[in-house]
Amino acid sequence: MNILTFQSTEELNEAGAGIIVSLLQTKPDAVLGLATGGTPVGVYEQLVKSYKKGLVSFKKATSFNLDEYVGLPREHEQSYYTYMKENLFNHVDLPAEQIHIPDGNAPDPEAECRQYEEKLAKAKQIDLQILGLGHNGHIGFNEPDHALVSGTHVVKLQEETLRANARYFDSIEEVPKLAITMGVGMILKAKTILLIVRGEDKAKIVHEALTGPIRTELPASLLQTHPNLVVMLDNAASRYFQ
Ligand code: F6R
Repeated sequence: MNILTFQSTEELNEAGAGIIVSLLQTKPDAVLGLATGGTPVGVYEQLVKSYKKGLVSFKKATSFNLDEYVGLPREHEQSYYTYMKENLFNHVDLPAEQIHIPDGNAPDPEAECRQYEEKLAKAKQIDLQILGLGHNGHIGFNEPDHALVSGTHVVKLQEETLRANARYFDSIEEVPKLAITMGVGMILKAKTILLIVRGEDKAKIVHEALTGPIRTELPASLLQTHPNLVVMLDNAASRYFQ
């Protein structure tokens, strides 16, 4: 595990984007595992800048997003599909047919999970999986539980997650209660995992996840078992590592 701490968010974002740019420069057909949420927005912004400078191309790359809300049409302003288009896909040359995001509005979400799992199986392995961290220790939408699911599945979002994500909706009632998420199996199968954590409110949970016992009640603690984990923290999130 390689833990890197950055003095400013800008430096962190540049370094995060730098890892993706380097990967695509050496392996243009890389498979990227992408996260949404507040954490990677600045990384995507830097990535777009690098693309516009001609430093990187996504033409041969493939992407798989971690998760999507169930019940939101793709065009909904808070769908992760819309998020990815606005923050990255509309601004780079990644072909639409190489983009994969679970369809949260599929008539049969369980069937959608199976299909997503088949697409992931065809891609075999994600080269670089980007992860944020939930306040409750979730990765993707794999919520703390007495057991975790390996494959893509429908998950009931926990109260803490609904509360955290309510900031993007008019009220907490509007936050979808279910999501489709990639399971921990595929996440842990990635060649490299880049976990990005910012803010004092996550300082304790990231420290516990990376230094405490490995347990399904803290899904991010499973990352300790990964042979190639890079962790990027800002100053505030790194508090307990000092
Ligand atoms: C998003 C995802 C989630 C978020 C996590 C942190 O695709 O999988 O695990 O990374 O909830 O969210 P933010 O970055 O908004 O604090």
